[in-house]
Amino acid sequence: MFIGLDLGTSGLKGLVIDDAQNICAEAIAPLQVARLHDGWSEHQPQDWLDAAEAVMVALASQIDLGAVRAIGLSGHMHGATLLDSSDMVLRPCILWNDTRSALEAAQLDGDPIFRRLTGNIVFPGFTAPKLAWVRTHEPDIFAQLAKVLLPKDYLRLWLSGEHVAEMSDAAGTSWLDVERRDWSDDLLAATGLRRSNMPRLVEGSEASGTLRGTLSSRWGLPTGVVIAGGGGDNAASAIGVGVVRAGDAFVSLGTSGVLFAASDTYQPDAASAVHTFCHALPDTWHQMGVILAAADAMNWFGRVLGATPEHMTAELGPLQAPSNTMFLPYLGGERTPHNDAAIRASFLNLDHGTDRRAMTRAVIEGVAFAVRDSFDALTSTGTKIERLLAVGGGSKSEYWIQAIATTLGLSISIPISGDFGGAFGAARLGMMAAGGLPSDVATAPKIVRVVDPVPSLQDDFLSGLSSYRAAYRALKTLT
Ligand code: XUL
Repeated sequence: MFIGLDLGTSGLKGLVIDDAQNICAEAIAPLQVARLHDGWSEHQPQDWLDAAEAVMVALASQIDLGAVRAIGLSGHMHGATLLDSSDMVLRPCILWNDTRSALEAAQLDGDPIFRRLTGNIVFPGFTAPKLAWVRTHEPDIFAQLAKVLLPKDYLRLWLSGEHVAEMSDAAGTSWLDVERRDWSDDLLAATGLRRSNMPRLVEGSEASGTLRGTLSSRWGLPTGVVIAGGGGDNAASAIGVGVVRAGDAFVSLGTSGVLFAASDTYQPDAASAVHTFCHALPDTWHQMGVILAAADAMNWFGRVLGATPEHMTAELGPLQAPSNTMFLPYLGGERTPHNDAAIRASFLNLDHGTDRRAMTRAVIEGVAFAVRDSFDALTSTGTKIERLLAVGGGSKSEYWIQAIATTLGLSISIPISGDFGGAFGAARLGMMAAGGLPSDVATAPKIVRVVDPVPSLQDDFLSGLSSYRAAYRALKTLT
């Protein structure tokens, strides 16, 4: 048996798979994001440990964990977990969708060495500019800093006592030489850090350590359970749905929205605002377009209305042509293709007849158009998408997936484990690290349905896309 733990932005999910990769137990514990100021987004690292404890206890109550051989980790990327020399957390973790360090990011991005070695724009959400921000605004904290860990790697420290990162997540720090798969001393020096501040690096499918004895006995696991390197949530999701070869891709509708394509080679194109990162398997890479608010936009709108997103999307009926009512989902800025920390979300063209359904449809369409923006950025780099799957909570909405399929003009397959993509992929990486079957990792899960574009609505969606793009340009003049 193998366990996958996925530290998400809104909750920590865990699952157990058997040797035939069947899911035997699942559990989830919620997490809260603190937003102290506009553009800020933080988690308390202690909450991750409490959530992991709750999930492990829940899994142990469902199934005997005595046959578990490995645990794989997945997590939201880019977060800065700052530790002192006793591994005490120095401040709340600044998350991937926090844009406070826009100025610092632009300054680092202005130094050509960053794009040259990382293959990416230095986005405000990445880790290095966060450290530059802390250095300027919280010098007392910076002075005590001994180690910087990514969120899932802090979970690993608690589980195994080891400071370790893996390539797919490390690639999103702006400190990794992404082609050579090693920390860059020059990039670290540019933010006042050294290699000794960073964790050791492994591949996602390698062992990083073993589970601490006290935790094994508390949860009923055997001794010597391997902790796999794991992956950033998107790379781990890709392993979960077998997206590991060029041509394979998925769209993820989690808190963020991601269009992810696997690649056989390192082929960066930073100017396109497409992310080029290491994959969770040795010698592989991937590219992705990232939307900061996908399901997050629907959750926000649900909170405003006092309704659940499930209920709001269920009442929509069959796919309709976009109306004049439009929504731009930039609640906290946008990454691909705009790299724009200042832009904010908007509803446009409301009239007396605009009701909750029209506004819900506009939110869905806005995210679908944002996915199309990422698609155009990805394909402009020469990346081909031959097989597209959907994962993440939003993929449960037929309306949403049909809107995306129609906007892209591509069929989208829904895998059975779509909800648990990151955790399932992490469990598979655990299986590999414990000497399981590496060739199995490319297996796509069972497809429960294929969602095709609606040909009669394609022109309407393309004209909606033009209006959406024009609206962004118009809003830009106001910020
Ligand atoms: C990827 C990104 C998000 C987070 C949270 O670059 O920032 O997808 O990993 O899911």
